[in-house]
Amino acid sequence: MGGKKKVATKRKYDDDRGTHFFDKSVFKKRKFSDAEVVNNHGPANKVQKTSSSNLTELQQVFKKKLEGAKFRFLNEKLYTITGEDAKQMFDKEPKLFTEYHDGYRQAVDEWPFDPVKSLIKYLSRQPKSSVVADFGCGEARIAQEAKQKVHSFDLVALNEHVTVAEMSNVPLEDESVDIAIFCLSLMGTNFADYIKEANRVLKQDGTLKIAELESRLIGLKKFLVVLEKMGFAIKQKSQPNGYFYIMEFKKTKKCEQVPPTNDILKPCLYKKR
Ligand SMILES: C[S@@+](CC[C@H](N)C(=O)[O-])C[C@H]1O[C@@H](n2cnc3c(N)ncnc32)[C@H](O)[C@@H]1O
Repeated sequence: MGGKKKVATKRKYDDDRGTHFFDKSVFKKRKFSDAEVVNNHGPANKVQKTSSSNLTELQQVFKKKLEGAKFRFLNEKLYTITGEDAKQMFDKEPKLFTEYHDGYRQAVDEWPFDPVKSLIKYLSRQPKSSVVADFGCGEARIAQEAKQKVHSFDLVALNEHVTVAEMSNVPLEDESVDIAIFCLSLMGTNFADYIKEANRVLKQDGTLKIAELESRLIGLKKFLVVLEKMGFAIKQKSQPNGYFYIMEFKKTKKCEQVPPTNDILKPCLYKKR
């Protein structure tokens, strides 16, 4: 009974707020409310400058709000354009990528569960000789922690562990990888092209790990059928804390073509506030 109520509450939250999971206030009680800021009655009224910057506490609140809004805008954008368009956007203005990841890091810090940590734990149980490809690696946290050789791909290199590559075309040989990972990175409208590319680089019987937001998987069954058509059999799926799915697939065959992918992965969109 209690479980059902919890799910219903979460669903309502999803409906009301769209991609709430990237909104860090979901998990942490805010220190002071918007009203306190606007009315100048709360802690935000303090005009003392903090030692760490020249901004007053109120200015810092607005700066954070602006950063949050920028992050949400970019996040939504990445879910609604193709990988190629995303690449062009960041090629034109690379600082947007840093801004995106500053916001993303802040969001992850607030999550009660970190899917990257769970994937690193999974890799710690796999042979050291396994070759890993991390598609849409962000800061390449996996490469920095895992004992295996990890090829980390993203649209911009935030550090020396990252190879710049669009996920539908990565610089790896056919059937050269044991484990391919997508951690919250099936973002573009052409996400199936990325899965096809993972199929190309994976060895027969190789492992595909996908960590994705539960709220995106509107058609989990259809998603699994599409993956099966693309040469991946589901081995395991878990929902470590209700908000994420961690799925494990085995490559069963080569993927020759991409089937239709309508209505299986919802983009993360925000309700306009
Ligand atoms: C939500 S972040 C997750 C980053 C990382 N996997 C993690 O969990 O910390 C998604 C990442 O996928 C990358 N990405 C999205 N589309 C891409 C594409 N077509 N090619 C390469 N990287 C892409 C984004 O640039 C971003 O860094």
